[in-house]
Amino acid sequence: MERSMYAGRVRSKHIGRQITLKGWVNRRRDLGGLIFIDLRDREGLMQLVVNPKEAPAAVVAEAEKLRSEFVIEVTGTVEAREQTNDNLPTGSVELKVEALTILSEARTTPFEIKDGVDVSDDNRLRYRYLDLRRPEMLENFKLRARVTHSIRNYLDSLEFLDVETPMLTRSTPEGARDYLVPSRVSQGHFYALPQSPQIIKQLLMNAGFDRYYQIVKCFRDEDLRGDRQPEFTQVDLETSFLTEEEIQEITEGMIAKVMKDVKGIDVALPFPRMTYDDAMNQYGSDKPDTRFDMLLQDVTELVKGLDFKVFSEAPAIKAIVVRDKADQYSRKDIDKLTGFAKQFGAKGLAWVKSADGSFIGPIAKFLSPVKDKLTAALQLADNDLVLFVADKLNIVNDTLGALRVRIAKELDMVDKSKFNFLWVIDWPMFEWSEEEGRYMSAHHPFTLPTEESAQELEGDLAKVRAVAYDIVLNGYELGGGSLRINQKDMQERMFKALGFSEESFRQQFGFLLEAMDYGFPPHGGLAIGLDRFVMLLAGKDNIREVIAFPKNNRAADPLTQAPSSVSEDQLKELALNINHHEDE
Ligand code: AMO
Ligand code: AMP
Repeated sequence: MERSMYAGRVRSKHIGRQITLKGWVNRRRDLGGLIFIDLRDREGLMQLVVNPKEAPAAVVAEAEKLRSEFVIEVTGTVEAREQTNDNLPTGSVELKVEALTILSEARTTPFEIKDGVDVSDDNRLRYRYLDLRRPEMLENFKLRARVTHSIRNYLDSLEFLDVETPMLTRSTPEGARDYLVPSRVSQGHFYALPQSPQIIKQLLMNAGFDRYYQIVKCFRDEDLRGDRQPEFTQVDLETSFLTEEEIQEITEGMIAKVMKDVKGIDVALPFPRMTYDDAMNQYGSDKPDTRFDMLLQDVTELVKGLDFKVFSEAPAIKAIVVRDKADQYSRKDIDKLTGFAKQFGAKGLAWVKSADGSFIGPIAKFLSPVKDKLTAALQLADNDLVLFVADKLNIVNDTLGALRVRIAKELDMVDKSKFNFLWVIDWPMFEWSEEEGRYMSAHHPFTLPTEESAQELEGDLAKVRAVAYDIVLNGYELGGGSLRINQKDMQERMFKALGFSEESFRQQFGFLLEAMDYGFPPHGGLAIGLDRFVMLLAGKDNIREVIAFPKNNRAADPLTQAPSSVSEDQLKELALNINHHEDE
């Protein structure tokens, strides 16, 4: 029989109709001589009833065999329910079953198929197809599909061309390790999976495509976190001849449309702009969460002269004030915060509470000479907790920036209904890497330096500024982009500034430099992390919730067991030898 409709869409208007439904047994209950079955499909649950006194004997026999997750086909008549269930959209109707066929049987599932079940992450991924049966998961993917549909419509209306770019390609430096694919034909040579289509989309501008977009997989071998997966999806775009403001305006329009289409929310345009320096100074982060205050306040000048070694020896001292919550922090709680602060390189966490007009805590006595000034500067009132970090400025910012977010979460200070978009602009071109002991691109090496600062490419790299912009949502880096270099000499200066030898940049990027000899238009663009965007729209805190088959935090897939070893023959064809590690 042909399916009449989705089970989840049956309503009172269908009463009296004979319909056929197909789906999974969510639950079977035998009550007062009747058999009740909740049938589940993509659109929801619908109650089926088998009355042994009325139904054909074959139907009753089949119904008695049913267990959770059996797949069935049922035909029956829609009737009004005696007792309606207001929690279910189908709660005013039920189906009186007249025919029932079991299409597939099911074993007991390793976990119950329902929202909010307590299952380990690895078990969810091991049986991902069952995990995805849970209605809340399905909702995430319906949302994701609506988001991409809305984005495609918008970009199509602005005449962006959707162009596919290669997956088997050359490395693009986006700051992570590459995933490599060995070549059989050219033994000893490797493709890199793209960290992004960055160079390729620039070449499309060279080709005169003018406006490109793609919803595209990117691959980065980096440490995984809740908002990072080894393969993830970007909404990637590139345009020719536009200013950075015009590119930002197009992006804002896209986000506004998505917010309207999928959330019914009118976001105010244009989005606020914050300079990178302000973001770092006030929020201690290049992706500030502006849904709450608790800003970082510089108290270096005020306290550095005190007779307190921690302060007198530090180049920078900043504080955050947890307002009217000092009573919620015991010494033990503050010890925990101190441990957390140390993860960011801080040597400790100094604190003081204000109560009845005085300071309380181990460093109160040191602060007493500046008590009034500090009280005024930080606008302190009773029951405030002040947390200080003294260190190099970047450690102070990182630590207090992270504490700010942690405390706001702990104290439930964040209005979860808010979507605070903003642009972070005026970026430095380079970031100092302690690990590598050198300057690295804050974005990527194709980013255009500002006209005023470009001469510092041969001088102080800390002073070079980029025509780059990040879009931030609720404390997450949603996307980033820039204007690009389109002149060969500038691109070569950039590579040199990054420490590439002439030989090495010619070997790696010669094709891009060559393209610059053939009429390369000024161009720029940006990429939005689609997984992060959908995660935030879905109110989740891990992008795994919006990726159908993600990896676990060891970059493995417990379902297919990827990555896996391969046969000796395959290795031989690729001319590869594996040096086995002890743990294998
Ligand atoms: P960028 O490296 O900033 O820029 O990446 C753009 C956006 O992609 C998302 N993202 C990730 N999402 C999940 N898992 C990851 N591992 C991951 N890495 C990045 C983030 C990020 O903001 N080619 C440039 C864009 C451009 O200049 O046009 C680029 O890739 O949301
Ligand atoms: P100490 O003098 O090491 O006993 O530290 C006194 C207080 O200052 C303790 O609460 C420490 O956690 C804190 N402290 C130590 N080093 C720093 C620092 N660099 N920044 C802020 N607080 C610190």
